[in-house]
Amino acid sequence: MSVKSRTGAGRRFVLKPIGIVHSPFREPTDIPRDMNRLPRAFTKVRGALEIFPEYAEGLKDVGAFSHLIVTFAFHKSTGAKLLSKPPGETRFRGVFSTRSPHRPNALGLTVVKLASRKENILAVSGIDMVEGTPILDIKPYTARDRKSGIRTGWIRGRRVPAPPRANR
Ligand SMILES: C[S@@+](CC[C@H](N)C(=O)[O-])C[C@H]1O[C@@H](n2cnc3c(N)ncnc32)[C@H](O)[C@@H]1O
Repeated sequence: MSVKSRTGAGRRFVLKPIGIVHSPFREPTDIPRDMNRLPRAFTKVRGALEIFPEYAEGLKDVGAFSHLIVTFAFHKSTGAKLLSKPPGETRFRGVFSTRSPHRPNALGLTVVKLASRKENILAVSGIDMVEGTPILDIKPYTARDRKSGIRTGWIRGRRVPAPPRANR
């Protein structure tokens, strides 16, 4: 028996979207690649998370949290690349050391700020996903998610372009 079948690592998982993202960005190419290099570039980008009615009951109590962790599918990803050059980089980096949308499992993760909830619609800011992105899960961002003493690998010390005026 292989390690994969013994440990369950060979299993497939079926993920059903619980909603969709509404975003000012229509296509991945609408987001300048360099924008991803700026730590706060998306802070003021507003959008909405539309949760399908059959999951709306699960939004009970969500309104009391300031930030939410959104897990989603990079549904417009064009396939996995194990090595790639992040924006502004000259060296190849391993996919698991990057936030690239081109991953073996095309899963994305973004922390958004919750502005309001109206029934099954969450108005949020901090959107870096495109319109129609399938939402797979939502979790509250809590104090446990805040880490100190972090090391940021190859990202540390790299030159980043100046942020747009609105984000300074
Ligand atoms: C660098 S990724 C980071 C996303 C998320 N914060 C993360 O860490 O998983 C953001 C880029 O993914 C691309 N993108 C956004 N939504 C997408 C989607 N639904 N399918 C494919 N690519 C997408 C856009 O080009 C955007 O600039």
